[in-house]
Amino acid sequence: MSRLIVISNRVSPPKTEDGSGAQGGLAVALAAALREYRGLWFGWSGRKTDKFTGHIDMQRAHGVTTATIDLEEQDVEEYYNGYANRTLWPLFHYRIDLAEYDRSFGSGYERVNERFAETVTPLIEPDDLIWVHDYHLIPLGQQLRERGLKNRMGFFLHIPWPPSRLMVSLPYHEKLVRTMLAYDVIGFQTEEWLESFCHYVERELGGTVDPDGVIHVGDRSVHAAAYPIGVDFKEFTEALESDAARESFERLRTSAAGRRTIIGVDRLDYSKGLEERFLGYRRFLEKHPRYQRKLFLLQIAPPSRGEVATYEVIREHLDELSGRINGEFADVDWVPVRYVNQGYRREELAGFYRAAEIALITPLRDGMNLVAKEYVAAQDPEDPGVLILSRFAGAALQLKDALLVNPYSKDEIADAIMRAIRMPKEERIRRWKAMVEVVRQEDVVAWRHAFVEALEKARPPVRREP
Ligand code: G6P
Repeated sequence: MSRLIVISNRVSPPKTEDGSGAQGGLAVALAAALREYRGLWFGWSGRKTDKFTGHIDMQRAHGVTTATIDLEEQDVEEYYNGYANRTLWPLFHYRIDLAEYDRSFGSGYERVNERFAETVTPLIEPDDLIWVHDYHLIPLGQQLRERGLKNRMGFFLHIPWPPSRLMVSLPYHEKLVRTMLAYDVIGFQTEEWLESFCHYVERELGGTVDPDGVIHVGDRSVHAAAYPIGVDFKEFTEALESDAARESFERLRTSAAGRRTIIGVDRLDYSKGLEERFLGYRRFLEKHPRYQRKLFLLQIAPPSRGEVATYEVIREHLDELSGRINGEFADVDWVPVRYVNQGYRREELAGFYRAAEIALITPLRDGMNLVAKEYVAAQDPEDPGVLILSRFAGAALQLKDALLVNPYSKDEIADAIMRAIRMPKEERIRRWKAMVEVVRQEDVVAWRHAFVEALEKARPPVRREP
């Protein structure tokens, strides 16, 4: 069996600013993949160093070998805070109004991708499968090829792929996309992002797409497909049985004092639609005063990417808006919005999801959204809660029995909350059953098997010279 080399920007699960350790979906999914396959997880340590040395820190923990490197301050500024999170992230989430283009970002991005390539190359054996993740490392495959690697290489994008008409607003977009042709397999979260990518390839690169998903540009052929990521259903349902989950369930139920909980859990990011969500909830409170004291919104939003200005701005807006709603509606014994900036462990979150009667997950654009799937996985089969989900999250294509809303519409959000409150138990059970089947079947194990299988089939392995 070939080894699997996973390469992503982050290796350690992302921590919240206070270090309490809320994990992003990507980190959780990859740790699970590496436990199963022999191999290595390579990436940035999250630390800064004065001078880049290429020193690799190898660790083995919980069945996973990790190899990490430190980056220079300027690298982090131009590559991570710059090109990845000020340029690509907003653009790929359809926010060209927030995207910043700066030559130093582009060159920093290339430099760090080269540093990754240079340091990881000696660790790679000829028949290893290489799996590169996410928008931080798009050109890495090409950089590895330039260093002579003939391995089978795949790339998976965890975020949306924007429509061509937005993509072309990126300076040197063609150069960036052409680097992707160095991979053998390119995976997207949904058919929608795949379609936008294929459209770009046909329109901007003059390529063709076969009905089976093989893309041809010049003499390069690449297999492109949708592989929707899932949750680790088994691990998550086990987490639900833990003492920590039981305690957090009790804690929330006790403090709710008979009121219903509407829960939202998101990294503090403008793509998550938190302002629009708060305003939609406010519209609900306005329209239905008699429900005012009967429920509350628990929004958990651990801050992220705090060095990027747009994130500071959204944080300020949310502080202000949550305060305003509370000032307007609260009473001595009731607060409508519990806005929490700390992160929680997975077990604790599992307990909170179980305790909440409604989940309100309304990103303006999201590659997939695993919180929606985790909420479904955490429900009591006898008395499940209701999922209100943005139709612009990748997960909406699979969770068709959620109450799907347009996250930009305050009225749709308000109406969906009302519908969730009034929904009879039989309907809740029927919808949940349909959703949990999808979450169970199309879990993270199925995801990685499908991707790795496609990579194995892409072409015969190049074996080591005897
Ligand atoms: C998204 C991205 C991941 C990223 C995560 C957390 O899920 O697709 O690549 O790791 O957000 O963001 P951060 O910038 O803290 O790594």
